[in-house]
Amino acid sequence: MSQQDDATKESAILDEYYDYVFSIVQRCGEISKSTNLEDMDVEFKSCDVDLVTAVDQLVEKTLITEITKKYPEHKFIGEETVSGGGECVLTDEPTWIIDPIDGTMNFVHGFPHYGISVALFMNKEPKIAFVYNPRLGQMFTARKGKGAFLNEQQIFVSKETSMSKALVMSEAGTSRDPDKLKVVFENLINLIPKIHGLRTLGCAALNMCMVALGGADVNYEFGIHAWDIAAGQLLVQEAGGVCIDPSGGSFDVLSRRVLCASTMTLALEIASNLSQYYPPRD
Ligand code: IPD
Repeated sequence: MSQQDDATKESAILDEYYDYVFSIVQRCGEISKSTNLEDMDVEFKSCDVDLVTAVDQLVEKTLITEITKKYPEHKFIGEETVSGGGECVLTDEPTWIIDPIDGTMNFVHGFPHYGISVALFMNKEPKIAFVYNPRLGQMFTARKGKGAFLNEQQIFVSKETSMSKALVMSEAGTSRDPDKLKVVFENLINLIPKIHGLRTLGCAALNMCMVALGGADVNYEFGIHAWDIAAGQLLVQEAGGVCIDPSGGSFDVLSRRVLCASTMTLALEIASNLSQYYPPRD
């Protein structure tokens, strides 16, 4: 079989995966919207601001069960499975990286920015991405080589190259480790006088979607996990932007560090202004 035949076959398989999982993601959005927030039990994971609800668990279980029914050989890295002691291993096999509710704190408060974040990696490269904010009806999608979309309209990053004109997004994250918070505050004190403005949505995946959309120019964070940024990586790249390590090196989805931006010039300018924090890898 020629290389072109192989590429055509892979593209057809990816289209099939995309269509199948798109409808499961939509269904999971309905599950999350049908929950009565007042009746919901909230549990704590690594600390008392790292939250999980029955909805996070049900959405992740639904995605894994439904994908496994059709593709039993596929692997998974899911936030709640890993929190429950499951493995976080990325191999070359088709692997779905899932954050069932990214922005659980927002979800619990009824703040309408949370996302179901789902990405397919093959040979450790992202191929398909969904970030769905059901509350606001925003379905962000991307396929490798086929662009990034919001509700089927193609989206593009801004053309911003200068930090002084950049709208920057970041998060304090859920860790209350004093060493981590020291770096968070150092960066804010250093950056805020030098940028156009700072925004924080409370959902790492949606922050990256705002860069993909061209609404924000940069997003950086230390301490996020693979499931928070896996889909956002492809969305930003397919919208024409870049994802790098916040030190300026190559992006690594398991490093728990992200810097994405509309242009490489801007990404590197921000990187050179950041104090660094290195959490343990996923
Ligand atoms: C969190 C959110 C938050 C980010 C944290 C993430 P979760 O994800 O994306 O914005 O600052 O680092 O852990 O726990 O709600 O899925």
